[in-house]
Amino acid sequence: MPSGLAGAGHSDAGAIDPRGAGPSLEDGEPQLPEAPPRSRLAWCITGSGHFLEESLAIAARLPAVDLFLSAAAEEVLPIYKLHIDALRPRFRVFRDKTASGVPVGMLYDDIYHTVVVAPATSNTVAKCAFGISDTLPTNMFAQAGKLGIPGIVFACDTEPVVVTKSPHDWVTLRPRRIELDNVERLRGIDFCRVVCSPAELEALLDARLKELSLAWNTSSS
Ligand SMILES: Cc1cc2nc3c(=O)[nH]c(=O)nc-3n(C[C@H](O)[C@H](O)[C@H](O)COP(=O)(O)O)c2cc1C
Repeated sequence: MPSGLAGAGHSDAGAIDPRGAGPSLEDGEPQLPEAPPRSRLAWCITGSGHFLEESLAIAARLPAVDLFLSAAAEEVLPIYKLHIDALRPRFRVFRDKTASGVPVGMLYDDIYHTVVVAPATSNTVAKCAFGISDTLPTNMFAQAGKLGIPGIVFACDTEPVVVTKSPHDWVTLRPRRIELDNVERLRGIDFCRVVCSPAELEALLDARLKELSLAWNTSSS
């Protein structure tokens, strides 16, 4: 982890304040209470079934997490019987409903100390590695980097053979050279750390929490 890294309503297109609470009102999420700067964690979910449940289980143990879903994540979550309404009691949830990634504006309001993308599809890994930002997770990742906010990406296609859980069965995949190359390229992106397993993700988050003098949640509620 690199060291030292630490609105308005949305009633019509002309009223979007890219830096504020517009998206939270839009999504029906509660306004944030007053809090110290950079005291929350932004957790982006993409349309990956691989390690989806494991990633969410880790997110649930962290303090003050907001979820940012890609459109594909919104489709894939219920396929794995993970419903957005069931996530809302624990997380604020932001969906990918704007072409420009309006919720990303919250990064400029100094709300988030870290941006996690977990699990990250091959698609999102490729975009992040090449500086493309056209979804909510890829926009969060890119803008966080430009603000010097650390990013952690849990890339799924990192081994020559990957055994993954499809909605109904376990399947064996053989990521192509391009997927493996994209993971390597992503490792070279500023303010980004890449992890390849839930254990690695947990270890890096543990280090990040310690850096921030924060602790894992002790209760599961
Ligand atoms: C049930 C289901 C599971 C999927 N799991 C994966 C996965 O594990 N890894 C992956 O790279 N893509 C997976 N996909 C495909 C992605 O969702 C698809 O490439 C999508 O365009 C990714 O968009 P995003 O990266 O913006 O979330 C899955 C699709 C479905 C329907």
